[in-house]
Amino acid sequence: MNNNVRPESMVRITTPALAEAFIQEQIQDIQYQVKDKKVLLALSGGVDSSVVAALLIKAIGKQLVCVHVNHGLMRKGESEQVIEVFQNQLNANLIYVDATDRFLNLLSGVSEPEKKRKIIGGEFIKVFDEEASKLEGISFLAQGTIYPDILESDGVKAHHNVGGLPEDIQFELVEPVKLLFKDEVRVVGKALGLPAEMVDRQPFPGPGLGVRCLGAITRDRLHALREADAILREEFANNGLAQKVWQYFIAVPDMKSVGVKNDKRYEGWPAIIRAVNTTDAMSATIEEIPYEILHKITARITAEVEGINRVLYDLTPKPIGTIEWE
Ligand code: XMP
Repeated sequence: MNNNVRPESMVRITTPALAEAFIQEQIQDIQYQVKDKKVLLALSGGVDSSVVAALLIKAIGKQLVCVHVNHGLMRKGESEQVIEVFQNQLNANLIYVDATDRFLNLLSGVSEPEKKRKIIGGEFIKVFDEEASKLEGISFLAQGTIYPDILESDGVKAHHNVGGLPEDIQFELVEPVKLLFKDEVRVVGKALGLPAEMVDRQPFPGPGLGVRCLGAITRDRLHALREADAILREEFANNGLAQKVWQYFIAVPDMKSVGVKNDKRYEGWPAIIRAVNTTDAMSATIEEIPYEILHKITARITAEVEGINRVLYDLTPKPIGTIEWE
């Protein structure tokens, strides 16, 4: 039997009880597979890798070694949350690597989107490999592969690519959620006690804010983007939009316009709000955000974020616009 095919008899996990049964079954399978060996996991803080980490911590505790690579393109507070949840609350074996300088130095002056993606993906694997080769006695590699990854590709996530690991290390894969759909992974994550904001996270590209800081990334513009995005997320949460809107974020282009602040000329970048609804990300419609909320967000971003002097709302559906702005 091909164990990459979801059996037709497998019940969709929709309730805490079904999630709990799945968790117990996986704990047994993981313990049987891993025995007393060590497992390595690239923990991005996204839904899939977080759920896999929580499952493995339950099954094998400190035999799991998580590596979180902060590429400097995370949203505000994300790496901190990974440390808080996994190291402080779940007592995981977590290696935190702040590789911000490495990534930003490599990206300096690079404006072409595909080139930026390649640099970020390549460097991610390099940093992860370096950490992996420092460790001894690792026998397994855990991955947050989910069923759509298997259906859509060869089942290997680009950023957790086994092919990128040193050739002399032979890892066997541990993929406990590979037959689950995203909604099921979220139900399991909740049953494992992960915080709702982690489990219900909106989609976030692997290259992170790198695809939203348009053109050649600079530290000051990246910082402005991150702060503006945090304000947008806070206001969406405060106004009941966070659960309603499928994906929302800020993009900051590499251009400035003249503004005026405190009676002085103030050149700044525009912050572009994108807030879309979709079911499959193939097409998307625009959320009709009440003007009152748009005014509040505009006032906060222009007052609180250094370097931003305008806020724009992108009304373009997909198609013709893609969801991201790269
Ligand atoms: P576009 O911009 O093509 O985006 O309309 C469609 C969806 O894909 C997300 N996206 C990514 N997701 N890794 C991901 O896991 C990536 O590299 C990536 N790039 C775009 C995007 O956020 C949107 O939800």
